[in-house]
Amino acid sequence: MNTLKALANVNGTTMPLDEVRISALDRGFLFGDAVYEVLRVYGGRPWLLDEHFQRLRRSLESIRLTGVDVERLRSRMLETLTQSRVREGIIYIQVTRGAAPRSHPFPKNATPLEFLYAEAKEDAYVEARQHGACVVSRPDIRWDRCDIKSTNLLANILAMQDAHEAGCSEALFYLPDGTLTEGTHTNLFGVRDGRLVTAPRNNEILPGITRGFIVGLAQQAGVAVEERKLHRDRLDEVAELFVSGTTSEIMPVVRVDDRRIGDGAPGPVTRRLQEAYNAAVRAFRERVAPAT
Ligand code: PDD
Repeated sequence: MNTLKALANVNGTTMPLDEVRISALDRGFLFGDAVYEVLRVYGGRPWLLDEHFQRLRRSLESIRLTGVDVERLRSRMLETLTQSRVREGIIYIQVTRGAAPRSHPFPKNATPLEFLYAEAKEDAYVEARQHGACVVSRPDIRWDRCDIKSTNLLANILAMQDAHEAGCSEALFYLPDGTLTEGTHTNLFGVRDGRLVTAPRNNEILPGITRGFIVGLAQQAGVAVEERKLHRDRLDEVAELFVSGTTSEIMPVVRVDDRRIGDGAPGPVTRRLQEAYNAAVRAFRERVAPAT
């Protein structure tokens, strides 16, 4: 049982997460006018911190949300994490355009809401990472800027609920031409002819931090990486499939809808990358935190 209480910080004020109160006129609530990040905490420290903050900056710029001191937000996040005493868990960060009378254009005088919390969390994917997971596929009904990490996640939620009801771990999105983009909260990788295949970094997918890290691991391991989308009707061409994300890490996929992938068990390239990933996390845990 987890007895640590999640600790939040709202515009610089620290408080237990369950005591946070946010205005009903907040544009994040009314319009989804907000961007977010989810970081993993290993051994009390945020994993791939610089990469997440770089993406947060990019998301803020993409939706023209100004007036946020990202360096200050980062310091607050680190302080909140320390105070929370969370060792294994996540940090959630959300920035909205603030509270203002409801009207579509950007408000003139609103202060952005900078909200974050650190929460201890058990790893929910241990089993699936070991044995492989099933996923379902669903039409990608999202908008044209899936590269922005915005809080508008209704399409993701509906598809993920289908996966959940089917007893599966994730839903993969496909476009009208049958090409697979990504999962509801993960990026997608396949192994074809010994090469790692993943969708190119463009507006159709979120540039996953884990995805980027895995591409680096593959290159170090001498596994060729091809940026190309997989096709939903040609999954018999892939020997292995996995999804990647902050919480899922590298999760082998052994079935998509009714189709078995490869021989129905996590494959050797996936295993190699999982081992490399675990080794990197181990090294990160063991590294002494630099004095600041
Ligand atoms: N989701 N694609 C989508 C649509 C996502 O929402 C996520 C992350 C990813 C993987 O990105 P990363 O490796 O940076 O976690 C890909 C987070 C974890 C979430 O919404 O909970």
